[in-house]
Amino acid sequence: MTTRKKAKGKPGQARNPWRDHYAEKARKEGYPARSVYKLQEIQRRWKILAPGKKVLDLGCSPGSWLLFASQTVGPSGKITGVDLKPVDTSAMPWVRMITGDVTSPELAEELGGSFDVLLSDMAPNTCGNRDLDALRSAMLAEAALDLAGRVLVPGGAFVCKIFQGDGFEEFMARVRPRFGKTRLFKPQSTRTASREIYIIATEAKPAPEGGWEPATV
Ligand SMILES: C[S@@+](CC[C@H](N)C(=O)[O-])C[C@H]1O[C@@H](n2cnc3c(N)ncnc32)[C@H](O)[C@@H]1O
Repeated sequence: MTTRKKAKGKPGQARNPWRDHYAEKARKEGYPARSVYKLQEIQRRWKILAPGKKVLDLGCSPGSWLLFASQTVGPSGKITGVDLKPVDTSAMPWVRMITGDVTSPELAEELGGSFDVLLSDMAPNTCGNRDLDALRSAMLAEAALDLAGRVLVPGGAFVCKIFQGDGFEEFMARVRPRFGKTRLFKPQSTRTASREIYIIATEAKPAPEGGWEPATV
């Protein structure tokens, strides 16, 4: 009897060479997820991370951005990761993990300080309805922006994933006035079919008196 190797992935799902290539590369290089290559591309272009920086990583599980960020900022930096799911950070001494919901009103206080860089790779549990998925992604992006308005230092950087679709243009209109420079970036390591895109916003402006306008989605 011949035994055939089972293809990885969800039952009924065809193998995806793109997915396999980056997943295999991440496994070999010791990163928990292939998403690390998106942050590496962002870093190569914009040098958002640097030794000594204080970084907040929202939606940090399973931990590949956390690991890359901690390697880049080094022991003189500080990283705080937040996710609904816990991440074991025992091998990364200058990383603090908060297991919780980014939309929680108590989070800013728990973070207890300011950050030079806010990264958000948060993604909703997708349901397959593109409009609904885009709207849920925009709501997470809003939560990240709201937090940025409270904890990001003037001059700081905000990197945020969002699905293009419902809520996207409204969100961009709220991001632009808060930063000196705002760009959109689709990493090569993102599948061409994916609607996810990253907002790279730098030179954060100080909040006006009374704070920034609250979210609308
Ligand atoms: C694509 S994964 C992030 C991958 C991560 N950047 C890495 O490199 O390992 C998206 C994450 O967003 C998290 N997430 C979604 N909604 C969230 C919420 N409301 N609060 C905190 N985390 C959330 C999910 O639990 C998931 O782990």
